[in-house]
Amino acid sequence: MSEFDTIILGAGAAGMMCAAYAHGHTLVIDHTKAAGEKIRVSGGGRCNFTNLHTSSVNFISNNPHFAKSALNRYTQWDFIELVSKYGISYHEKTLGQLFCDTSAKDIIKMLQAEMTKAGAELWLNTSASDIAKTESGFCLTLTHDGKSQFATCKNLVVACGGKSIPKMGATGFGYQIAQQFGLKVTETRAGLVPFTFGDKVMAGLKPLAGVAVDCRAEAGGAQFEEAVLFTHRGMSGPAILQVSSFWRETEAVTLSLLPQVDLLSELRQQRQTYGRRSISNVLGDYLPKRLASYLCEMASVSGNLADFSDIALSALVEKLHNWQLIPSGTEGYRTAEVTVGGVDTEVLSSKTMETKDVPGLYFIGEVVDVTGWLGGYNFQWAWSSGWAAGTAI
Ligand code: FDA
Repeated sequence: MSEFDTIILGAGAAGMMCAAYAHGHTLVIDHTKAAGEKIRVSGGGRCNFTNLHTSSVNFISNNPHFAKSALNRYTQWDFIELVSKYGISYHEKTLGQLFCDTSAKDIIKMLQAEMTKAGAELWLNTSASDIAKTESGFCLTLTHDGKSQFATCKNLVVACGGKSIPKMGATGFGYQIAQQFGLKVTETRAGLVPFTFGDKVMAGLKPLAGVAVDCRAEAGGAQFEEAVLFTHRGMSGPAILQVSSFWRETEAVTLSLLPQVDLLSELRQQRQTYGRRSISNVLGDYLPKRLASYLCEMASVSGNLADFSDIALSALVEKLHNWQLIPSGTEGYRTAEVTVGGVDTEVLSSKTMETKDVPGLYFIGEVVDVTGWLGGYNFQWAWSSGWAAGTAI
């Protein structure tokens, strides 16, 4: 039998961060063969590890105030300081998003070095089962390379992440543990995920595959102005991934093309000088050409600019500013970057991430009902919540 002060389930971003700050004899287990697999692949291999503008408004949760405590006490600046201490160079790509200059593996190495410094053990290829509460903490069975052993701990930290990308080790095990202890879990769904469309809509959109355009996307009451990418399967790109976390089945997604351009005035002006140009060619000055001709077809307009009355131009502009598409669904957990929803924040202390009713049981990171926007916010939540639990243990 092995005895630990703390056992952390999951050697991902939150679990490793927690282990780096926890006092006493800590064990981190993961059922995969490598720690921090999502960190490794994130940001195209360069890990968008935080966002300069992080605040609680960048997160979705049933309780929008819950994340404030951890985010305010372990901030983006604290993580940047840690990264700098390890000499990891980084750059801002866009909108406050910080990426490693060289490799996401630098972040994993840094976290592992911090864990080692704190004296934490890491057991890979290890799974946990038969978790039960005891008077002084918890007991569980750990199975490593087919061999099982009994273990006990005072604190059990659930850092198993969400359901996104099962191929990378996601299991939803954390939600099962919450349910086992009678803790509420909010509805979970795929977030930061591309949209798919039915055959009929897709047949129309297919010629646009590969086209990217900056626009304003809106769904579920949220709007983001970033790029949208048309793909062979549907729509992706940052603006789409962002609104996907807010979207609900059967709802339309509204795209506003050229939201910052007073297109009606522009087209009226162009009509005076370039009336003989086709409407499709003129729109092609503002939008990718393939998209411009698709939109003209969709709006059933053709001919020269001079043929268009103010009313006709206005109707066309309205269509471009209010293009509604109804997705049939999303690509789901297979490609989703995150899981929206999770362990209800009502059952947790926002200061320590410990459950209110089961002393010694903690939930951190993505398994909790706190989901960040795209842009480094999800890792910042993993660092902040992991730190909050680690320093409380
Ligand atoms: P995480 O998923 O990292 O770790 C959970 C760990 O638990 C895993 O190692 C898993 O193997 C283990 N586990 C699961 N079930 C288990 C079980 N039953 N037994 C034992 N171990 C178990 N965010 C961001 O801010 N910037 C970015 O650039 C990106 N990029 C990105 C790209 C891709 C492709 C994905 C899928 C996701 C991102 N994200 C991101 C999101 C980010 O990766 C995510 O929010 C954090 O990794 C969550 O950290 P956690 O530690 O909570 O879970």
